[in-house]
Amino acid sequence: MEIIIVRNKKEMAKKAALIIFDVIKTKPNAVLELATGKTMIPVYKELIKLYKGKKIDFSQVSTFNLDEFAHIPFNNPKSYHYYMSKNLFNKVNIKKYNTHFPTAKGKEYENEIAKSGGIDLSLLGIGENGHIAFNEPGSSFKSKTREVKIPRDVYTVGIGTIMKAKKIVLLASGVRKANAIHDTIKGLITEKLPASILRKHKNAILIVDKKAAKRL
Ligand code: GLP
Repeated sequence: MEIIIVRNKKEMAKKAALIIFDVIKTKPNAVLELATGKTMIPVYKELIKLYKGKKIDFSQVSTFNLDEFAHIPFNNPKSYHYYMSKNLFNKVNIKKYNTHFPTAKGKEYENEIAKSGGIDLSLLGIGENGHIAFNEPGSSFKSKTREVKIPRDVYTVGIGTIMKAKKIVLLASGVRKANAIHDTIKGLITEKLPASILRKHKNAILIVDKKAAKRL
């Protein structure tokens, strides 16, 4: 796993956006797997800037979000549909029909990803306990898209789904993430720490700011 330590959240976001930019430039119909959460907001801001500067074109890009809450309407501000529309989709020229979110039909989601040619880049955040998407500690490294209770019902891609991506970019900023980042890089590769499996991926990059890298 390549590790890039940057000064702050802004630099982290810029680096991540440039990696996404390169993927789309090389392959205009790139397939992206996207995360939500606070970490991604500055990344999406950078992508919007690149779009407004006519540097990036989303017209052929497809996206598959990593996770979503079950049983809440898409227009609920807590939903990840809402988050994505607000923070990215409504502000760039992506076609809404090319954007996807997991549902109770996990197998169909996996099939749709496969039909699109597979994920070119998976953009991941990390939880303080090392979770990725909604794969909490104890999730199988082979897991696929499914519904889980954490304790509320959510839909999430699996760790197996994430590992199939051609490229993975994991982002973390702030001291709150320092332990999870330390364990991901220096600890055992174990299902107790979902992100640790990313070390086995052939093309995974970790971009962390100084605070999140504090224990490395
Ligand atoms: C949630 C999401 C994850 C996200 C994580 C970190 O659990 N399901 O996909 O990566 O939180 O969120 P934040 O970036 O707000 O710290």
